Amino acid sequence: MTTPPADLWHHYGRARHATDRAVPDAFRWSWSQDSGPGAAALGDVTGLHVGDLGAGTARHAAHLALHHQPARIDAVDASPAQHAMAADLYGHLAPRLRIEQADVVSHLRAAAGGAYDVLYSVFGAVDFTEQRELLPAAAAALRPGGRLVFSTLAHYLGGARARPDVQHADVPARTPDGEAVTMRRWVLQEQVWSKLLTEAGFTRISVAVLPGGAGPRTADAHLVTACRGAS
Ligand SMILES: C[S@@+](CC[C@H](N)C(=O)[O-])C[C@H]1O[C@@H](n2cnc3c(N)ncnc32)[C@H](O)[C@@H]1O
Repeated sequence: MTTPPADLWHHYGRARHATDRAVPDAFRWSWSQDSGPGAAALGDVTGLHVGDLGAGTARHAAHLALHHQPARIDAVDASPAQHAMAADLYGHLAPRLRIEQADVVSHLRAAAGGAYDVLYSVFGAVDFTEQRELLPAAAAALRPGGRLVFSTLAHYLGGARARPDVQHADVPARTPDGEAVTMRRWVLQEQVWSKLLTEAGFTRISVAVLPGGAGPRTADAHLVTACRGAS
């Protein structure tokens, strides 16, 4: 029997989970989560099948389920802790909101080709997953013309420049027991995202900068939009 890997997202969002059960009244893409474009960056999702890749506690997905009218939104996250918190907070939004614990690459590969109209990630799985596996799987799971939108760091936390090539960094993390470990994070320059997305079959790629604002914990982000090409 193999031991499951430690859940490195065990701590994330836990304090807020204890105090804030509300469905957010806005959808934010920026690192500070207090400004910038909202759900409009996804296009009109009314009646569409939408997927959140690396949904965490599913606050963004819950907002869409309650304030917009997707036919269905799948909030997918690999972390058992994130899944449990999401189910506790927003399980009542089923069946429009479906909260699923899965690795997104496996999830997308198992989806019928073209099953999704829109996929998005807010500093989610796109930042932490081998791009040359995730992006082609996302393209195949989208219908032709379907949209992928994601926010991702424009530079490392602390200020170091994003990578000019497809190389991850090993960033600090903690196991549920408190042991210091690392996890992989991809922080890539704009033209690297464009190249990866083109290789994966996306077209109409655009990248906007979301300024981080002032303060020690802020960071600029990229908001990347791409459409699955016809094939
Ligand atoms: C920084 S959190 C962001 C969560 C959420 N999008 C938010 O804005 O609060 C990153 C999330 O991505 C998830 N994640 C990373 N890689 C993943 C993968 N390959 N499959 C599924 N989830 C993944 C982690 O479990 C974690 O919950």
